[in-house]
Amino acid sequence: MAAKGRIVWVSGPAVRADGMSDAKMYETVTVGNSKLVGEVIRLTGEVAFIQVYESTSGLKPGEPVVGTGNPLSVLLGPGIIGQLYDGIQRPLKELSKASGSYIGRGITTTPVDMTKKYHFVPKVGNGDEVSAGSIIGTVQETDLIEHSIMIPPDHKGGKITNIVSEGDYDLETEVATTEKSGQSIPIKMYHKWPVRKPRPFLKRYDPTVPLLTGQRVIDTFFPIAKGGTGSIPGAFGTGKTVTLHQIAKWADSQVVVYIGCGERGNEMTEVLVEFPHLKDPRTGKPLMDRTVLVANTSNMPVAAREASIYTGVTIAEYYRDMGKDVVLVADSTSRWAESLREMSGRLEEMPAEEGYPSYLASRLAEFYERAGRVRASGSPDRDGSVTLVGAVSPSGGDFTEPVTTHTMRFIKTFWALDAKLAYSRHYPSINWMNSYSGYLADIAKWWGENISDDWLSLRSDAYGVLQREDTLKEIVRLLGPEALPDEEKLILEVARMVKIGLLQQNSFDDVDTYCSPEKQYKLLKLLVDFYKRGQQALKDGTALADIRAMSIVGSMLKARMDIKDDEMAKLDQLDIDMQEQFKSITGVKVRN
Ligand SMILES: Nc1ncnc2c1ncn2[C@@H]1O[C@H](COP(=O)(O)OP(=O)(O)O)[C@@H](O)[C@H]1O
Ligand SMILES: [Mg+2]
Repeated sequence: MAAKGRIVWVSGPAVRADGMSDAKMYETVTVGNSKLVGEVIRLTGEVAFIQVYESTSGLKPGEPVVGTGNPLSVLLGPGIIGQLYDGIQRPLKELSKASGSYIGRGITTTPVDMTKKYHFVPKVGNGDEVSAGSIIGTVQETDLIEHSIMIPPDHKGGKITNIVSEGDYDLETEVATTEKSGQSIPIKMYHKWPVRKPRPFLKRYDPTVPLLTGQRVIDTFFPIAKGGTGSIPGAFGTGKTVTLHQIAKWADSQVVVYIGCGERGNEMTEVLVEFPHLKDPRTGKPLMDRTVLVANTSNMPVAAREASIYTGVTIAEYYRDMGKDVVLVADSTSRWAESLREMSGRLEEMPAEEGYPSYLASRLAEFYERAGRVRASGSPDRDGSVTLVGAVSPSGGDFTEPVTTHTMRFIKTFWALDAKLAYSRHYPSINWMNSYSGYLADIAKWWGENISDDWLSLRSDAYGVLQREDTLKEIVRLLGPEALPDEEKLILEVARMVKIGLLQQNSFDDVDTYCSPEKQYKLLKLLVDFYKRGQQALKDGTALADIRAMSIVGSMLKARMDIKDDEMAKLDQLDIDMQEQFKSITGVKVRN
């Protein structure tokens, strides 16, 4: 029986209702005369605490609260790609049409167009045995996405009967039925799934395949794996949003879920205005043909921030289950944590650090645990992944605050943004001394098989130079660089070249914005070769000034901008030029 209670208290997005003994934890309810969407987040006897996902202004005690019997769920089926949703999967365009303003209250729309016809191609026949997760057919959702129609994850399976022939059908059409023990269940092209419940899969793989982002400081220095987790913390203006955009645009995934969570509207507007005009760099098709946007900006109801995170990750898992690589970026998880804090405060829970609720850590853990590269359930065999990347916005860039420190427990790649680097216009301002990746050893094999065996050792050599520079910095600060022996001055010089020639990357430059793994490798190798040849030249008595004065130094610094991905021969030429120049300054005769 549906719970029917009434409001006794309203505090911002929090509502208390009595007469709710029939309600369940995390059940969605309609709140008030205008039927706002809410979710039961605490239940004591007859009294339910509800977080309301829409503006509660005007809501009064005495108004009704009615249970729906269902947990907060998303509709999963063709039509999701290309959408812009609010936190509870309402298309923002439809909402603004229905309400006249940007977002109306209590408005019900369907998440996808239920009347649109898709061309269904059956993949099983009558009599075939299917189980939960099995693909029964496909539709072309967008030019870039072939969408698999799957038996829902909580389905018992059975024999296929009544499968339709290839043709155009809308989402409400029963495209097949399953029969098991005399029971027949209709299958449509969509199903619903509760957002707080991870979708099941068969098994999880080790994260051995890199998610290539085309961003050198990420792929070469602090890589993330497909199915991995990453966090990008940084103070305001250090480059979180730009980096997430770059990942959304360039990562080698088939589907992108972009969650704008609690950031200012104008930051989201950039995505909304920019993304629909962007082309997928690999196919030339619109980027939106493989992207879903979930937006809950700072002016929208705070409780829906949490919903936007769960909605986004559930959609990501759904496309993973089709066998696709999905990357989800969330900007910013701090705003979600702040909404938990606000809600917890209104419920007068006992606060933990800095007023955040004690369950902050477990919420973050539950979110990041939904990442993974997996073998999907059902037939045929297929593997997919969900990679999760969350921005964290610690005020003043203080990484000791609770959201950053708890997040660090659950993620394996940490891209620490640095206000000093951003200020000196070193972008991306990812600080190489504070950042880390737990995937280096796992993905080294991929680089070995696909690019070159010495990738990991070159990366260690280059990283070693940056570490040595860091230890020398203090001496330089006290005594000046002239106090150092030439061998160490060479380290400073090479560190400068690594920073300018490799780590810095301009998102707004046509060539530099994306760097192929092959180009990343060759730039890295040039730098390490330069270092080794420089060391040898010094040993042979060459002056450091002569090394610095070689024209190759300037060419190497500019190569990332000057040499395009399809001009790898030019990078090989730089290597030859470098050898010649070293020979000429060390007095070795150059052959003509
Ligand atoms: N990789 C980059 N290349 C060029 N400019 C960048 C890069 N990253 C950040 N910026 C600059 O820094 C500004 C602030 O970045 P943004 O991502 O909006 O910061 P945050 O989201 O951390 O507040 C951008 O508008 C841009 O000018
Ligand atoms: Mg931002």
